[in-house]
Order: sequence, then C-alpha cells, then structure tokens
Amino acid sequence: MRVRSLGGVGGVAVEGVDLTRLSDDEAREVRRLYDQHGLVVFRGQTLTKPQVVAACAPFGGAFTDRVAQAVDPEAPGIDVISTRGYGGDVVPDDPDAVLGATEWHTDMGYVTKPNRGKILYAVRVPEEGGKTGFIDGQMTYRELPEALRRRIAGLHVVQSWSRLERLRQNSDQRAYRLDGDNQLAPNLFPDVVYPLVHPHPLSGEMVLNLPPMWADGIVELPGAEGEALMTELIAHITQAKFQYWHAYEPGDAVAWDNWRFLHAASGTPGRCVRTIWSVSINAGPEIGRRLEAA
Ligand SMILES: [Fe+2]
Repeated sequence: MRVRSLGGVGGVAVEGVDLTRLSDDEAREVRRLYDQHGLVVFRGQTLTKPQVVAACAPFGGAFTDRVAQAVDPEAPGIDVISTRGYGGDVVPDDPDAVLGATEWHTDMGYVTKPNRGKILYAVRVPEEGGKTGFIDGQMTYRELPEALRRRIAGLHVVQSWSRLERLRQNSDQRAYRLDGDNQLAPNLFPDVVYPLVHPHPLSGEMVLNLPPMWADGIVELPGAEGEALMTELIAHITQAKFQYWHAYEPGDAVAWDNWRFLHAASGTPGRCVRTIWSVSINAGPEIGRRLEAA
C-alpha cells in the first residue's frame, strides 16, 4: 500500500490496495487513514455496485436509508450520479449547459444525524469538468483568526432543506438527474440547528461547521448581524488555499469524512459523459437538533 499526500489541504491518495479483498491489516490501515486524514482517494479500483456498498465496511458500513433518493434495484444504497440520467440513456438537450454543479455543503446537513461519510466511485470520467471539491473543517477552524473564534463560540447555525429548494426554484441550474425524480417537497425536512463549531465525534478535534448550501441564519444573531457573520465566515472557509478539487481517474474511489469536510461539485458540460456511483457511510451521533426544540 503506497500513500501520498494530496497536497497542503489535507487528504491522501492510496495505491496498491484492492477494496474488494482487504486483509485485516489493510482494513485497519485504510480505516486509520480515513480517521486521520478524513479524505482518502483509492486509485485503480474495479468495483461492481454491490462492491462499492461493501467497500464501506472498514469505515462503518453503508447507509441504506434512502429518504431522498431512489433505491437502486442492483444494490440498495447506491445512487447513480450521471450526466446521462440514472439509467444512462438520457441525452441533455443543451451540450454546453453545465450539469450538477453544487454549492459547498455537508451531506444530509438537513437532518440532525448526518451520515459519517461517503464513497464516490468513478465509472465514467468526463473530458472536462466533473470535479469534486473538498474543504477540511478542522483546517478552517485551526486557521480562523482568534477574534472570530471567540465571536462564534457557542453559536448555532440554522440548516435548512427548504433554503436549497427555494434556490433551485429560482435558478436555471438543472439537476443532474434529467428524469424528473429529483423534485422533492420543499417542506420535506424541517429546519435543524447545528453548532457552528463542534468537536469531531471520534477525534474531538474542533470542526468549523458552516455549510453554505444549508446555512439559513445564526440562531443567536437574527437578521443582518447573523447574515454579516455568516458572510464573513463563508469568505474565510471558501478561500482557495483551503480547497482541494479532485479530478477523477477512472477507477478512483474517493472516501471522505462528512462530519469534518465540506464538499462541492464543479458540474460537467452536458456533452461529456460522467457517471459516479455514490454510497453513504453509516450515520453516527446526533450533531444537530430540531429547530423548534432549540
Ligand atoms: Fe453532496
């Protein structure tokens, strides 16, 4: 197993390991790398859908509660993210339109118990675009100016599913899924509240948590003051020096820690074929709570 850094922004790439046949020692080592670095790119994998689900085992197992997504008949837990639709047979009508770009976010940030992480397996890699961005919330917390650290201690962010749905309705950004099954009710999940800073549930390292896609206000600072603080924090978090953008090679399986990292998608021009199989890693403790219980 060969491990090298992805650069100054956290994360490692691993070569020489087959996720379908890990020895006990290798399973312990990939888990250790995942816990330590929070972002691990496994190069050169050849995986079926059930093998992508099984690859979650060292990290806590797959999360198969598909509240917001379709259930794949071949492998429950898999989500197909493709510029050609779930079944691979939908051709976008505008070849230049960028599909699937997203803001920075945590997955399942709209419920109180987010998934531990995710694995994205690259099935088809596009000639252009199609990158996934990562930002380490432990690094952005460590680099936060002391005065800002003091200001945000004890504060909470409202994380809102309906915020995203409101944005979608006012946008011409098209969803990746072209087959119409991505339209979910704007009130599907009630707003939740997360600490702006929380100790990582396993390591205890402090994580700066402000996912721009979900963030809809600061509980303790309603109105303009909270908005201004969120703007200042988001400007800090999203500095280029904290971003790692992964350009996939075919066979890459990218595992990350969703309790710690933000991620985003660059999007892919419709003329390019990009297909990713995605599976969530099991949930853990509650990090957020319901807004009405705040
Ligand atoms: Fe995501």
